[in-house]
Order: sequence, then structure tokens, then C-alpha cells
Amino acid sequence: MAYQLPQLETLQPGEAGRVTLTFHEDGRTYDLPVLAGTHGPKVVDVQRLYRDTGYFTFDPGFLSTASCDSTITYIDGERGILLHRGYPIEELAANASFLEVCYLLLYGALPNHSELTEFDRTITYHTMVQEKMKSFLEGYRRDSDPMAVMVGTVGALSAFYSAHMDVHDPQARAIATHRIIAKMPTIAAMAFKYALGQPFVYPRNDLDYAANFLHMCFAVPAEPYHVTKVQARAMNRFLVLHADHEQNASTATVRIAGSSRATPYACIAAGIASLWGPAHGGANAAVMAMLEKIGHRDRIPEFIARAKDKNDPFRLMGFGHRVYKNYDPRARVLRESCHEVLDELDKKDEPLFELAMELERIALEDSYFVERKLFPNVDFYSGIMLRAMGYPTPMFPALFALGRSIGWISQWKEMIESPAQRIDRPRQRYMGAPVRSYVPVDQR
Ligand code: CMC
Repeated sequence: MAYQLPQLETLQPGEAGRVTLTFHEDGRTYDLPVLAGTHGPKVVDVQRLYRDTGYFTFDPGFLSTASCDSTITYIDGERGILLHRGYPIEELAANASFLEVCYLLLYGALPNHSELTEFDRTITYHTMVQEKMKSFLEGYRRDSDPMAVMVGTVGALSAFYSAHMDVHDPQARAIATHRIIAKMPTIAAMAFKYALGQPFVYPRNDLDYAANFLHMCFAVPAEPYHVTKVQARAMNRFLVLHADHEQNASTATVRIAGSSRATPYACIAAGIASLWGPAHGGANAAVMAMLEKIGHRDRIPEFIARAKDKNDPFRLMGFGHRVYKNYDPRARVLRESCHEVLDELDKKDEPLFELAMELERIALEDSYFVERKLFPNVDFYSGIMLRAMGYPTPMFPALFALGRSIGWISQWKEMIESPAQRIDRPRQRYMGAPVRSYVPVDQR
């Protein structure tokens, strides 16, 4: 069935009115411009507020703050819509290779045939990392968390490649961008192999991006390894579905780090650090921990009851979403791949996956979850799928970081290329001690 484009109100970007602020203490009024984007809520432009009135705005957690203009991604959480450069995620996940999506996010348009061939070639020929990075990585403890390895190793790219690059040089930016896209899979696979105690596997230029990554993760020198179509397709989809998600914590971190003109490698390392936390990139791991805790399908009713009990802090991990109050469009697509992988690997009867499928079935029918629109989210399916493919739970956030690195570098590029770019410098409401005089230590 052909995908139906969502009907979205399209606005004329630019000034779209004014609001007036009244200061009740002295009756002053102040006019603020209202700006429209292409789709979505209009914004009140407060950039001159402090200069003109002496007031800051106050918005901890950025609940009502748009921190930048962006042309990359649009999300309508109420309606479950996610667009990259205008294209619905469902269409991209069904049809596009990850590298096509990388090109789209970076340059704003889908590549034509020769552009894609050239881009593919450029990325493919950057996939190896400097040989010395192996010894760098081998300095980690064998049981290091893969995210610790990723933060350090990606940050260290600044030491192995152009630490003093001029971020205002388009050529230097392009090379750094290509290196990040190309080397992230190699580094993630090296982190995986290192934890397993297996030799690192070099990239293969005859494989596509997703298949090459699977090869670097699962091939061993002792026997041939064949990447199956289903698994390569599933990994491609996983990467596409994680490629960008607008101004989330890690993306905002990358932009803030980059606003000081730090090297993009350091900025991406900062993004990985921000993604690391369980409130962001760790949710898919929490799904696995929950499934292991439930242990057997017979115990599902007990845990469903606990999830509904307001006096019990337990929640069904992998259900519900802060932004999507409708089916997460990414979850629908990944569900398909997850089921395909379980079928191909003949794992549907394994207790953990059987349990997951039963949980999904019950939650989709149970009125508590249906009424609150608590659908399975992308982390529910990615956790199950990655485990079925053979990844241990600590690798899940590292795989998320691999997919998201194209979003980070595209947002970094957009930020640094903006004519309005300057260092980000949030302000605060000071709540500390009032001014006071230093007291010598013997008089305190
Ligand atoms: N299990 C049971 N009840 C839930 C759940 C859940 N997973 N999620 C929400 N509810 C209930 C909640 O108790 C509330 O009930 P009531 O209206 O009776 O008080 C109602 O649903 C609305 O919940 P909320 O807390 O207002 O929703 P929220 O937007 O604050 O929370 C959430 C969103 C994702 C934090 C939450 O759904 C949750 O904790 N989910 C489980 C963790 C998870 O899967 N996180 C990954 C999210 S996707 C991340 C990404 O995109 O990268």
C-alpha cells in the first residue's frame, strides 16, 4: 500500500505577528516579534529582551524554548510524524540506504545516482582508522563499557587527525564529516570486539555501510562470515531510524560544544557522553533489563498490574514517549524488522523473545495502555532486535550513537555554517548567597 503523506499546515517562514509583554510592576509594555517556521508552533523571539528590558527568560529543561533555526528534522509528536528534510521517516526507512539518508541530512536533498556513487566511494575509502588507534583502544580495561570506549576514542580522533582544523574552512569541514561517518562503525565494532577478546576485523569495501558494520562485528578469522540480507536490512533501518531526532539532549550538546569552534571530533564525543545516560540512549538497554526481570511469560500479568499501580514506581520500559503521544513512527517500522530478524534467526520461541512478543500483544490490547496511548516505542523493538542479532546490552547505546552521529554532524555543520553563529551562552537565575565579605579562617 502506498504511503500517504501527512497533511500538515505549511506556514510562510518569517515574521508572523507580535506579542506584547506587560510589566505589571510599572505598567511598561514591550513588543516581541512572533516568527513562523515551515511547520509547527510559532516562536516568540526574545533575543533582544534582556538588552531592551533587563529581563531574562526562564526555562530550565528547555520546555518552551527553541534554541536554534533548523532545516533538518521536523517532529509532530501529537500526530506521530517525523520528517527529515521534508521526507517522512517511513518512506526513508522503507526505501533509502543509510548513506542516502546521511547525504540528505548533510546536504538537504536526496543524492542523484552519481552524487550517491561519489559519496559512497568517499565514505568507503575513509573507513579504516589509523593503525595506532588500535593500541590506543587496547589501553582500556577489557570490561570497559563500550560507551566509555566510544567517548574516549572518538574524542581522540582529534589527536589522530587534524586537531587544529579551521572549522570555517569548508574543505576541512567536509573531510572531518566524512571521517566521522566512515570511522564511527569501525570504532564501534572495535569496542565490541575488544570486549569479546576477539581480533579487530578490518572494514570491507565491497559491502554496504550496514553490512560492513555487521561484518566488522561478527566476522572472525577462523571461518567465513556471511551477512544475511534480512540482518543487513534490519541494521540499515536501525541506523536510518536513529539518524536524527531534532534538538534532543545529545544534539543540543553537540551544537553547544561546537559553538565555541571546538573540533567536530570533540563535539561528537560530547554528544556520545550526553547520549550515554539512561534517560536518553540507555532506554533500549532498560527494556532488556525489564524482560530479564520478568523472566517468564507467566509473570507478565503481575508486571502489567504493577505498571498500572500508581503506588508502584515500576513502568513498562519501552512503552510511552515524551514527544510522541501517538504511535512512534520509528517503532512501527522497526517492529517489522524486529519480527523479520526473529523469524530468520528462528528465535521467536526463545523464552526472552516469546515473552517480549506476548508483552507487546497484551499492552496493545489492554485498555490502560490503549487509553493513555502508551504504544511500544523504538527502544522496545531495537532492544529485542539487537539482542537477537547477538549484541550484548552494553553495546545498545553505542549502536544508537553510531546511528545518531550523522544527525550530530549535520546539526554541527548547520550550526557552524549559519551566518548568525556565535557562542552559546545561557544565563541563569542566581539563587545563592547575597553579597558578603570574606571572613578569615580563624574567625569562621
Ligand atoms: N508504563 C506504565 N504507565 C505509564 C508508562 C509506562 N511505560 N508511561 C506512562 N505511563 C502512564 C503514567 O503513569 C501516566 O498515567 P496517569 O495519566 O494515570 O497518571 C500516563 O501514562 C502519562 O504518562 P506521563 O508520565 O505523563 O508521560 P511522560 O510523557 O511524562 O513520560 C516516558 C514519557 C517515556 C518517560 C514514559 O512513558 C516512560 O517512563 N516510559 C518507559 C521508559 C521508556 O521506554 N523510555 C524510552 C522513551 S523513547 C526515548 C527516545 O526517543 O530515545
